[in-house]
Order: sequence, then structure tokens, then C-alpha cells
Amino acid sequence: MTRTEFSTAEGHPAGEGLALGGAERPGKPAMLSHVAYVTRDTAATADFYTRVLGMELVNAVLDDAIPSTGEPVPYFHSFFRMADGSTVAFFEAPELPPLAAPPHPAYDTFQHLAMQVDSVETVDRWCAWLRANDVQVLGPVDHKIIYSIYFRDPSGIRLEITTPTSPVWNDNADQARASLAEWEDVKRRASEEGTDLVTMVHDLARERSHRRS
Ligand SMILES: [Fe+2]
Repeated sequence: MTRTEFSTAEGHPAGEGLALGGAERPGKPAMLSHVAYVTRDTAATADFYTRVLGMELVNAVLDDAIPSTGEPVPYFHSFFRMADGSTVAFFEAPELPPLAAPPHPAYDTFQHLAMQVDSVETVDRWCAWLRANDVQVLGPVDHKIIYSIYFRDPSGIRLEITTPTSPVWNDNADQARASLAEWEDVKRRASEEGTDLVTMVHDLARERSHRRS
């Protein structure tokens, strides 16, 4: 079986000191600065992120063009800060039409923002608080490595409040690299054999769940 080699956290080629064309990679990004979404109602967004989620509105910018691209789109940009300094940012741009529904509903499930808290008990307390604020909450779900609840903000953005329940939840690199190589291998086999990849994944998942039971 051909295995694709993937970078490791510490060793070559993903580690420090990788050089290319006279440039050297300066380590890895330090933390989440901000993730940015579009809102159609900044006031409702601000109420939710400050009053319900307890984050602070820490910066806001109004402009009539996007600085990075120069596109002449007027907007209001706001930032809400979490306990570690990372922020969730929003753009409200009056000329943008409503976003079309994605071609599959799972896009709105897979794409989400997860915020970490300190314990399972705190996740449960968030669950109660959100429900007391008439927020529909899914969960808690025990994923074995993390424990999570899911809900949506006023824009419909899927949010998660979670806590790690395993020390390896974000430190299982060998397993992750092996899984990724296997995933690439399944895709390659499906392509070479002309087999439906979705069916192959179904079969593999079923095989795994039998192994676990
Ligand atoms: Fe998640």
C-alpha cells in the first residue's frame, strides 16, 4: 500500500527550520486572533455575544471599502473577545444580499466555531444558561475525547461549547497522520477501481463500528 508522507509536528518537514527559496518558516501561528463571519444585524449579534455568551465588544470599525482588496463595499466590522484574548468578528454590509442556502444542509453542521471551557460541569452550566435564554441546544454530546453542546447564533452560525476529556484530544499526531494516509489511500483506491467513495466510507465505518463493539 502506498502511503503518503505527511508533516510531523516536530520533525522534518513540518518542524522548525524548513527553508525554501531563501525563506525560512517562522515556527507556527501562536493562537487564534479572530475568525470572521457575516451578520445581517450587528445589534442582535452584539446582544447575543455579550449578554448571552459574556464576551466583550472590544473593537469596531466602519469603512466604505475593504482595505485588503480595495473593493468598494461599505461595512461595519465588530470584534467580540473571549477570555484568552481571541476574538469572533463580524461584518455587516448593507448591500450584501442574503446568503443562498448551501447545496447540502451538512455544510451548516460541519462548519462551526467551537469555544473551549474548563470542565464538563461548565459545559453543563452553559447548557442550562443557554436554554434559560431560549437558545435551542443540542447535546451535551460525549465524544469521548471532548464533551460538547451545540447551538446557533442569531445569524445561524453553528457554535459549540466544549471541554477536552482526554489529554490526547489535540495531541495524537501519530494516529492522525496514519488516519490521513489511510483516508488518502481509500480515495486513491476508489478512484483507481472506479468505486463509489461514499459507499467505501460507509463500508469502512460499518467495519470499524463492528470492531469497536
Ligand atoms: Fe466541533
